[in-house]
Amino acid sequence: MRTKLLSEIEKSGPMPFEVFMEHALYDPDGGFFGSGELKSVKAGDFLTSPEVSPMFGEAIGRLVEAEIERIGEPFRLVEVAAGSGSLLRPLLASLDWDLEAWAVEVSPAARAALAGIVPSERVVDALDRVPAPFRGVIVANELIDNLPMAIAQRVDGEWRERWVGGDGGELALIDADPRPDVSEWLDRFAGPVPDGGMVEVQLAAAGWLREAMAMVEKGSIVLFDYGDTTENLLPRRQDGTLRTYRSHHLGPHPLDEPGATDITADVNFTALEAVAVQAGWEAKTWRQDDYLAELGLRDRISAMRHEELALARSGDEMERLKVRTLRTEAETLMHPRGLGDFRVLIARR
Ligand SMILES: C[S@@+](CC[C@H](N)C(=O)[O-])C[C@H]1O[C@@H](n2cnc3c(N)ncnc32)[C@H](O)[C@@H]1O
Repeated sequence: MRTKLLSEIEKSGPMPFEVFMEHALYDPDGGFFGSGELKSVKAGDFLTSPEVSPMFGEAIGRLVEAEIERIGEPFRLVEVAAGSGSLLRPLLASLDWDLEAWAVEVSPAARAALAGIVPSERVVDALDRVPAPFRGVIVANELIDNLPMAIAQRVDGEWRERWVGGDGGELALIDADPRPDVSEWLDRFAGPVPDGGMVEVQLAAAGWLREAMAMVEKGSIVLFDYGDTTENLLPRRQDGTLRTYRSHHLGPHPLDEPGATDITADVNFTALEAVAVQAGWEAKTWRQDDYLAELGLRDRISAMRHEELALARSGDEMERLKVRTLRTEAETLMHPRGLGDFRVLIARR
């Protein structure tokens, strides 16, 4: 992948960081998600909420039920970036009826896994392959943090972009004038970043949300991810939040091994919320722990604690351990400094 990128740069010149990221993550020939094995599984590169506990999908099932009650049928559920199906499977199993579920995934390995959960004609590689408009819910966990972004740095009180060029046979970040849409995003959503500070400019995230909203006649879009508001992200700006993951650990610099690592950054939820509000949707950003509690997960956890006590009294040790595992996994989803500290944007119309 690095050789391919260097020869592309030699031919056409330096590329904006989002173009580099598009290649590194999505290229069908060597991109991190575009090729190779399933990444979001226990043996893979990161552990996500649905991989930690089936109760994540089950809790979202309560949101789906509430939305069906609110808007009625016909109703469609679309999961984007559906990974191994660990959200969709327990969600569908927790509902009392069949609904029309679709899974969208760029990864061929993930699509193969998903075809065992929803009919294969409803497993597609891009959101625009889902027939629209429709009524229902679009949900995504840890999609937005992967969408290609530009990078900007504050230098002498001005914004500069960081593009990707070549330097002695290696990829290197190089200085570039900020493009108008990048400048506009920075003015609205970067906040008062001091000199030297780095900001990931999430234009593709905004574009993705606009596209998704245009497809939904009535219903909601629910986006779980790590990130925060513009204001709360400010303390993280000195180094920026761009990073890589591999095998459950922070990986090398994004330019070091393109195609071999996940590239990600904290999501700016202020910017996402603004896109929804501008389109006339109701939008609210929650903490994951609060939102899952709203969907009843805290009550489930306390019911499981009582069940464990009853099983301990009755001496059914195997069953007690099973319930205990389910309960501790569910608690992990709510941990205030772990997954519970993720954010959820709920956009509704
Ligand atoms: C961090 S994983 C999360 C997977 C799953 N949602 C989970 O929580 O376990 C990111 C997933 O997003 C998929 N992905 C990234 N960009 C996408 C896009 N534009 N459309 C659909 N899937 C995408 C990747 O293939 C990968 O499976």
